[in-house]
Amino acid sequence: MFKFFSKVFFVSGFILITMNACIPPQPIFSLDKTPLIPLPTLVTPSDEVLQLNAIKFVRIYDADKQLIPIAKNFISYWKTITQHELLITHGQTNDDHSITLKIDEDFNPNPEAYKIEILKDKIDLVAKTAQGIFRGVKTLEQMLFLGKLEGKTNFLSLQGGEIYDEPSFAYRGAMLDVARHFFSVKDVKRYIDLLSNYKINFLHLHLSDDQGWRIEIRSWPKLTEIGGQTEVGGGDGGFYTQEDYMEIIKYASDRYITIVPEIDLPGHTNAALASYAELNCNGKAKDLYTGIEVGFSTLCVDKEVTYFFVEDVIREISEISPGPYFHIGGDESHVTPQDDFNRFMDRTLAIVKKYNKTPMGWYELITADIPEETLLQYWAKTEDFSKVIPKKSKILISASSYCYLDMKYDSLTPLGLNWAGYLPVKKAYDWDPRSLVSDLDSEQIIGLEAPLWSETLEEFDDIAFMAFPRILGYAEIGWTDVSKRNWRDFSHRLSSHGQIFDALEVKYYSSKEIDWK
Ligand code: ACM
Repeated sequence: MFKFFSKVFFVSGFILITMNACIPPQPIFSLDKTPLIPLPTLVTPSDEVLQLNAIKFVRIYDADKQLIPIAKNFISYWKTITQHELLITHGQTNDDHSITLKIDEDFNPNPEAYKIEILKDKIDLVAKTAQGIFRGVKTLEQMLFLGKLEGKTNFLSLQGGEIYDEPSFAYRGAMLDVARHFFSVKDVKRYIDLLSNYKINFLHLHLSDDQGWRIEIRSWPKLTEIGGQTEVGGGDGGFYTQEDYMEIIKYASDRYITIVPEIDLPGHTNAALASYAELNCNGKAKDLYTGIEVGFSTLCVDKEVTYFFVEDVIREISEISPGPYFHIGGDESHVTPQDDFNRFMDRTLAIVKKYNKTPMGWYELITADIPEETLLQYWAKTEDFSKVIPKKSKILISASSYCYLDMKYDSLTPLGLNWAGYLPVKKAYDWDPRSLVSDLDSEQIIGLEAPLWSETLEEFDDIAFMAFPRILGYAEIGWTDVSKRNWRDFSHRLSSHGQIFDALEVKYYSSKEIDWK
């Protein structure tokens, strides 16, 4: 009897295997049901099917050779998914079997817009800029990864059709506080990698605060020799040399992410005041601080040395920061009298301008005489929304009760704080930056940024736990038009991304709001 069954199983298994070898694999997802995050603008499926093993080349059309690094990275990604090595070729031939990356000057003027066409024997990706090609490549990579995880095979296929895509907001940012706890270059790079997978295009680094000064300033070396040597809780702290910082900038820029440096002034400056006695009004250095209170420190607004200091810091950092913005903080300067604050900011804003940067600051800057191009970062809690007096300035939305990644998910979350309320995944996703604050003119709003303050975070896994999955929601709010977004659909797509986090060993928060796959 056993023999009979084993024979039947053997024969039918053989038939199945033989049949599988003949039938080309079918797409795991139909094109318009692929659980992509952020959701693309327009997806139009066709009847064609592309077998990935038909692809042999990555073909580049690009006079400036900007696409070569993008192509090389994509080829190694392709190999990890399919085990096949693609070759790079240049320019036109009649040979298909290729993925074409093409910069077309006449394509949509939005530098991040792109179009992907999937046909039965090739993929064409076109954009006006290398940045647009990069965003499109990230969409292709996500399709491959999701297909591979779901299909559990190297022999993949994709349904044909077209994806046309462009972002809703120009600024889709994350912020990492490396001052309250210091995070290594390796940690920051890992965060950048993950952010770039979801088309986030700015990373703001909070480089100084009461608890630590985290970037080498060559003309003021004690900032890091003294001010960089501790952190919240009394740990060792640390700092980036200028070479480290440039390495981060290069790594980010290779992934089309712009680094925004922040030096928080004139409050949040205890680490600087502990490093240099002359920066204090009474000429005495402060003690280093390792607690989590805010609002107790200020630079000495009436001393000329303060402005030598501020200028040296802004000059040295601006000289090695290719991005357009210099963030001068300005929040919670509770012990700086208002007149002093405004005088300080007038001079500091002029210094930022002198070094050809666009000033950026927390919205408390509104009381100073700010230039029109200043980018104000709006971090108010819901009950404080009336605090901003609308001006002409551009506004970046980081409303703390919606955007702060350090707010706990709920009362049981072991990390984070809750002064702006709990922030479950649905609340973090289900709002619109253009209509959140009724007093603000939607034309002023250039995007959103999700800050991650690090009072309670000590290692990369803590960053991952607070940021993932909520940061995917912010990535989608920033990219996908509000008319196309809804929580049910997002949460369904998000349920597939837990497998990606697992595969990348990202220790995310597996919220019960999501029915994870
Ligand atoms: C802030 O949360 N103090 C910007």
